[in-house]
Amino acid sequence: MIPATNQRPAATILFIFGGSGDLNLRKLTPALYNLYLDKYLSDRFAVVGLGRSPYTDESFRERLLEGVQSFSRRKNDSDNAWGAFAPAVSYLQMDAGDSAAYSKLSDFVSKKEGEWGVSANVVFYLAVAPQLVPDIATNLGKLALCGDKSRVRIVVEKPFGRDLKTAMELNALLGGLFAEEQIYRIDHYLGKETVQNILALRFANSLFEPIWNRRYVEYVQITAAETVGLEGRGGYYEGSGALRDMIQNHLLQMLCMVATEAPISFEANEVRNKKVDVLNAIRRIKPEEVKDVAVRGQYGPGKKDGKAIPGYREEEGVKPDSATETFAAVKLFVDNWRWEDVPFYLRTGKSLPEKATIITIQFKPAPYYAFPEEATHSWQSNRLTIGIQPAMDIRLRFQAKRPGQTLAIDPVEMVFSYKDAYDGQEPEAYETLLLDVMTGDATLFMRADQVEAAWKVVTPILEAWESETPDFPNYEPGSWGPEAAMKLVEKDGFQWMGK
Ligand code: BG6
Repeated sequence: MIPATNQRPAATILFIFGGSGDLNLRKLTPALYNLYLDKYLSDRFAVVGLGRSPYTDESFRERLLEGVQSFSRRKNDSDNAWGAFAPAVSYLQMDAGDSAAYSKLSDFVSKKEGEWGVSANVVFYLAVAPQLVPDIATNLGKLALCGDKSRVRIVVEKPFGRDLKTAMELNALLGGLFAEEQIYRIDHYLGKETVQNILALRFANSLFEPIWNRRYVEYVQITAAETVGLEGRGGYYEGSGALRDMIQNHLLQMLCMVATEAPISFEANEVRNKKVDVLNAIRRIKPEEVKDVAVRGQYGPGKKDGKAIPGYREEEGVKPDSATETFAAVKLFVDNWRWEDVPFYLRTGKSLPEKATIITIQFKPAPYYAFPEEATHSWQSNRLTIGIQPAMDIRLRFQAKRPGQTLAIDPVEMVFSYKDAYDGQEPEAYETLLLDVMTGDATLFMRADQVEAAWKVVTPILEAWESETPDFPNYEPGSWGPEAAMKLVEKDGFQWMGK
């Protein structure tokens, strides 16, 4: 989290493996540029893109500027701020598979530190395909520089393994090369303003915490719906699917924010200890229970807004008989004193009708016996919804008397909207997370045990799904997923929030 004191990080050199790739273009450089505009970067800052493509510093900067113009929340301003930022950017052509080339990185650090006259924090950001991570990490681990725990960090993007076994192997490999406090496993949802605000909502107010438990909460829902399909990512997604791509990480992390006990401080390990307790308390699903608590779906061909949409199986890089799910919904329980028997419904999917990530805390109904029957026709339980994106808001539904001479009770809403309450734009998740890496704050990053605990939660579902052929495709693009997902909540007497 951005330090309250607005401290800038110390001198920093950031190496980005996959420098010419999409993540850097769309997210990392725009984030760095915004940090620069907001004066969060050190005056001694250098970012080096690494890759095999033949760029000069100049042509690399031009390419990144295109990224900023297209994807940044702020474009290059008229006062040519990019012109002032760009000299910090350079490019080093290097094959990440060539061990001998890594000495160039140490040389660059020594040269910069000589120029600056101070020692710098060094961050290695692995914005590369997951299969390249072990080799790059191994080569980096051999650099004498990386032994310096206090100032060298490595950032690893998801997917972090593709199941518990591979995640444990990767953790063991990284753990043999770096100290845990040097390893920053990114889950970009944790950098989202509204996700961070869950902790503020819960623990900076005395109002919510006393009712934030099984006594008052009927159920919790977390939906992360996307309208997009594959966006050319078939090669990756086909080996992943919605459960691995979204639920194992983003949705479970949001669940942890909702369900965690109060930390005694916002020190990174304290917050992460509390969150891992939640993951460890999630009830293990037995193989024979999977069909009752987990639903998978895959969109077929169809039409959205009058436009023909190819089915998932017709996308590039996807097998014609693919069993990869593009939709997943699960019901989980957190077996502890606070949450015993409160269902947590998680749902995510591609090609759904809306892009919306919403957390709903549904409270138990109030008794209505005192009111005349006709007053209670639109009686609704209290509900708190936390809009993560694109709407960033918190809504509290409660009941009020409709004005007039008759007694009628209707639900109304109290709304806190970021847009109305604050001027200016909130930072993008990657801005927050990059600044955290540079200042050495790991609170919003996954620790090894968190990643493994999250894999343990989804493992029974993955195994059950792998053992059976699904009835895919089973939902229309632009719909809310397969019929069975509706039944998952309806059989408990509830409905999905939204549609
Ligand atoms: C990524 C997934 O982690 O998150 C993508 O790999 C998904 O499949 C994306 O589209 C969603 O992120 P956001 O921030 O757009 O909700």
